[in-house]
Amino acid sequence: MKETMWAGRFQKQLDSEVNDFNSSISFDARMYKQDIAGSLAHVAMLAKAKILTDAECAMISEALGGILQDIESGALPFDPVAEDIHMFVEAELTARIGDVGKKLHTARSRNDQVAIDTRLYLMEAADTIIAETETLLETVLKQAEQYADTIMPGYTHLQRAQPVTFGYHLMAYANMFERDLRRLRFCRESAAVSPLGSCALAGTTYPTDRFMTAAALHCSGPCENAMDGVSDRDFVIELAAAIAMLMMHLSRFSEEIILWCSWEFRFIELDDAYSTGSSIMPQKKNPDIPELVRGKTGRAYGNLVTLLTVMKGLPLAYNKDMQEDKEAIFDSIDTVLQCLHIFTPMLSTMRVRAENMRAAAANGFINATDCADYLVGKGLPFRAAYKVTGSLVARCIGDGKTLETLPLAVYREYSPLFEEDVFAAIDMAACVEKRTSFGATSPVKVREQIALMKARLGK
Ligand code: ARG
Repeated sequence: MKETMWAGRFQKQLDSEVNDFNSSISFDARMYKQDIAGSLAHVAMLAKAKILTDAECAMISEALGGILQDIESGALPFDPVAEDIHMFVEAELTARIGDVGKKLHTARSRNDQVAIDTRLYLMEAADTIIAETETLLETVLKQAEQYADTIMPGYTHLQRAQPVTFGYHLMAYANMFERDLRRLRFCRESAAVSPLGSCALAGTTYPTDRFMTAAALHCSGPCENAMDGVSDRDFVIELAAAIAMLMMHLSRFSEEIILWCSWEFRFIELDDAYSTGSSIMPQKKNPDIPELVRGKTGRAYGNLVTLLTVMKGLPLAYNKDMQEDKEAIFDSIDTVLQCLHIFTPMLSTMRVRAENMRAAAANGFINATDCADYLVGKGLPFRAAYKVTGSLVARCIGDGKTLETLPLAVYREYSPLFEEDVFAAIDMAACVEKRTSFGATSPVKVREQIALMKARLGK
């Protein structure tokens, strides 16, 4: 085994099982680009502040560039025995340029290094998740437009409640995803603060310029308290929370897609490319993909709870417990990206069976509220109108009729206020078109919602 960085203080080598337990390279190696970017910014600052010479800076920078290239080409494999990515890069640097390499770690600590690396990684990840969520939102908006007039039952308690349009239902999801985008952008901003130069916990005696490194790394500035800089993982938890919420929305959407695919609903059919068959039942077309998205939401929640629990009760400043943040947040990032990547095309290729939506809307007495409103329009108090309509529904069920097919004579047995125009009042399309309050389901209002959102998104 190679000599450890802290060999001066110790008489014995680390036990190899302990080394494995302690090492994070198996999962933090993915931050190699960010680690090298942080080191390049740091060394340029050290030269500008005359802590290192320009020649030393040039040597270190060039060697770091070479290491980056070699990692990317595969010429330099990660050493599984290295403690972490920071130690790996530094050891490689020293192996390549000797003692000058040892000067890189002046005026910094691994504690600020791991914090800046994680922040840079999360900034990039947030950008990717934002882009994928924008694509999803555009797809939902396009479909909402397409189905702005498609009547379906709206549900509460999973019981048919009132007629809505499919476009309206989709716009509810568009609003969720728009809020997700807002949260993700906040996370991006929250991550873009630089802890580099915080050093171990107390800052440094060297004349460093933390504003310079912050700017070079595209951060809004350096964190204002160095102890907070190395102790803070709020930005990790914030992103995990935003992802958990986005996954919750995907999971609710998935659940509805699963229901809508069932033969009980048959509102939609997923494309063959996004469905699976059964190993023994030839008739089956299973919605495995939305089921997996729903299932994977559990991981995202678990990761959030992991992170909150790891940080709970940790004294300031750095503690090794914090190394546990990476697997959790990386898993959340990987999971949500995988889900978004599959969910969007699954949605854009699904077949909508408007005729089945319409038929379901016709059979659930979902125009009963409109029937009661009709009586209110004729002067009956709402509660009385509600009771009359309830009795009519019971009668329909007994007679095997719907409100549309019940004869006017029967209506009049329950109230003399009913006239021929009741049929126009309870017509399904009319029921939808009349709901014109702000944010309501009428096609005009759905198109208004789409236009408002598009304007906000600059589309
Ligand atoms: N591998 C560590 C982590 O992920 C890096 C920082 C270690 N610092 C230390 N003093 N042990 O958190």
